[in-house]
Amino acid sequence: MNINTSRVFYSVISLLFLIFNISCFSGRFYGIYSPDGSIELIVDNYNGMMTYSVKKNNKVIIDSSVLGLKTDEFDFVDNLEAISWEPSTNDESWTQVLGEQEVIRDYYDELLVKLQTSDTKLNFNIRFRVFNDGVGFRYEIPRQKGIENFNILDELTEFNFAEDSKSWWIPAYAYRRYEFLYANTLISEISRDKFSELVENLNGPRLGPEAVQTPFTVQRDDGIAIAVHEANLTNYSSMTLKATGTKNLECDLIPWSDGIKVKASAPLDTPWRTIIIGETAADLPLSTLMLNLNEPNKLKDVSWINPGKYIGLWWEMIGTNQSTWGSGPHHGAKTKRVMEYLDFGAKYGFDGVLVEGWNTGWDENWCCTGEGESFGFYEPHPEFDDERIAEYAKNKGIRIVGHHETGTQIDNYEEQLENAFAYCKRNGIRVVKTGYVNDGSQNIKRVDENGEIQKEWHHGQYMVEHFRKVLEVAAKYEVSIVVHEPIKDTGIRRTYPNMISREGARGQEFNGFMPIDVHNKPDHTTILPFTRLINAPMDYTPGIFNLKEYRFNSPDDRTINPNHHIPSTIAKELAHYVVIYAPVQMAADLPENYEGHPAFNFILDVPTDWKQTKVLNGEIGKYITTVRQDRESEDWYLGSITNEDSRVLTIEMSFLDKEKEYEATVYKDPEDGGWITKPEEVLINSMVFKNGDKYDIVLPPGGGQAIKFSPKG
Ligand code: NOJ
Ligand code: CA
Repeated sequence: MNINTSRVFYSVISLLFLIFNISCFSGRFYGIYSPDGSIELIVDNYNGMMTYSVKKNNKVIIDSSVLGLKTDEFDFVDNLEAISWEPSTNDESWTQVLGEQEVIRDYYDELLVKLQTSDTKLNFNIRFRVFNDGVGFRYEIPRQKGIENFNILDELTEFNFAEDSKSWWIPAYAYRRYEFLYANTLISEISRDKFSELVENLNGPRLGPEAVQTPFTVQRDDGIAIAVHEANLTNYSSMTLKATGTKNLECDLIPWSDGIKVKASAPLDTPWRTIIIGETAADLPLSTLMLNLNEPNKLKDVSWINPGKYIGLWWEMIGTNQSTWGSGPHHGAKTKRVMEYLDFGAKYGFDGVLVEGWNTGWDENWCCTGEGESFGFYEPHPEFDDERIAEYAKNKGIRIVGHHETGTQIDNYEEQLENAFAYCKRNGIRVVKTGYVNDGSQNIKRVDENGEIQKEWHHGQYMVEHFRKVLEVAAKYEVSIVVHEPIKDTGIRRTYPNMISREGARGQEFNGFMPIDVHNKPDHTTILPFTRLINAPMDYTPGIFNLKEYRFNSPDDRTINPNHHIPSTIAKELAHYVVIYAPVQMAADLPENYEGHPAFNFILDVPTDWKQTKVLNGEIGKYITTVRQDRESEDWYLGSITNEDSRVLTIEMSFLDKEKEYEATVYKDPEDGGWITKPEEVLINSMVFKNGDKYDIVLPPGGGQAIKFSPKG
């Protein structure tokens, strides 16, 4: 059946279903299908309570789950009468400013259920959308008499999985924010004790409920993969999922310090609750549902938003430990050193050089209490001659990437925002990396209306609103933002394309400052594409070539600390540029480790903005092979990575144009290599491929492979 006939077929089924239910149950429930008919959503109004359930390929995957909101003024829970059930469809396409694919199809069936409380006659809507890649729904409280400002005390949304499946998760309410390795357990086994046993000991006080962050991913025994997340997190608190010791999870909104979940007013549209569904795990990374559930681009002129690559005066602090952010003999951001980076960057065509430690505020306890010296965001360190550097960069055709580490001193940052971004504009800075280091997640200072200090969570409404404010002010000054320690990605980049990238997961930096036993494990980047990276860029900062014996004991003691060895290979580092999407991508190692290295060519060639992307194969935590086509040419790039196991992945070159032959440059590990034995040995071969060719990707333990394909002639 082609898409159109199947659509008609399923619409007819939906209609019959509706008639059936209306006649039998007085309009109590309603089913809608995804355009391809593979996903069915059933919405029920039973004894005044709204529930939903979801089927994929005719199998129940989410059992009947409750919907509703409780506030301090009214409840929308078990007193709801359905006024109308309004189905509609949409099929439109839109173009991304930057992306993994240029054009996105926004194709769904919608059901708007208009409800009213039986006693007080207050209006409340739930809007559902069913796409081929999953389901989204949100609550809407329209403007009406009797509702103005109110506080949400609880959102009741449940996610009752039909099967107690394997799941991949990181804990909420924990001190590393999103920067954990993932646990893999049954849904019913989720707890901080289990996390401490399997992944990392969660020391410190246990605040908040047992809950996990989203995206939260499960894989059923029949192979169907499901990720629960949210889209368009705006003026709300972020959703975590509360564990119950069963296969049922509940929405748990991160509270304000006074326990209120969301401070709201009507009209209110909540973020979309999303259930991304794939036939297999390999379908998840390419889901477009989250972007489709965000509002269209709000920025009129986007000519200043560009993809690109940058190097940085960074790894020498966080990785090699030879320089410092703060003042002293080893201060990294000195004018001369910055100019050397600019020379190197310009020589190889990079777009930017990140400089950390360029400003004031790094000298007293900047990390990790929120109590240190206040950063100055338009006040350069005396050793950083900003005007001279701006002029030098301009003449070389390269830009400084700005850096705003806030130390989570939010008031201090917000007071300086306008001046900080005006400073960027004056100095030719188009991209700023921001940062929110602070250990302990409920440790963000907020001065309340009475002048008293409150401590907020990193992911509550206070910070959601802060991150948005920064984005809006940055846009005014034509600056794009790469946020470290951010709020999670919920697709806001569609509305604000200057939301370029974010960290929001455990990045390469942990391989820098943490000893080998707590480095990122070889499987980490084979889990991320199915969890944190579902339809979302990340500033992972790949590209380390010096993988062993790179870290000094201290800036003063330049002897090698043997406790550091990055569990990766050069070929895998290259593959990360394709597997991990970021429109502004870093080449994280020091210039001297790149200069003259033959594998550096891949980093120079690989684009960061794509016409299309395909995931050829993948299993969560085991391996993934991704191919992407350059937006500006006919070239394709492939990245394939494995966990600690060696494997051979046979692929078919089905993505190549049938009319063309391609010259390929292959960057691979030796067959007897891998992250332990020969991490820094990379073999570079030329090959010729055409559509339909079969090829064995041989991956040793912890290894990877990267290929560039260019049409011949
Ligand atoms: C943590 C960030 O992830 C890292 O990239 C940065 O260098 C430090 N904070 C300092 O801002
Ligand atoms: Ca970080």
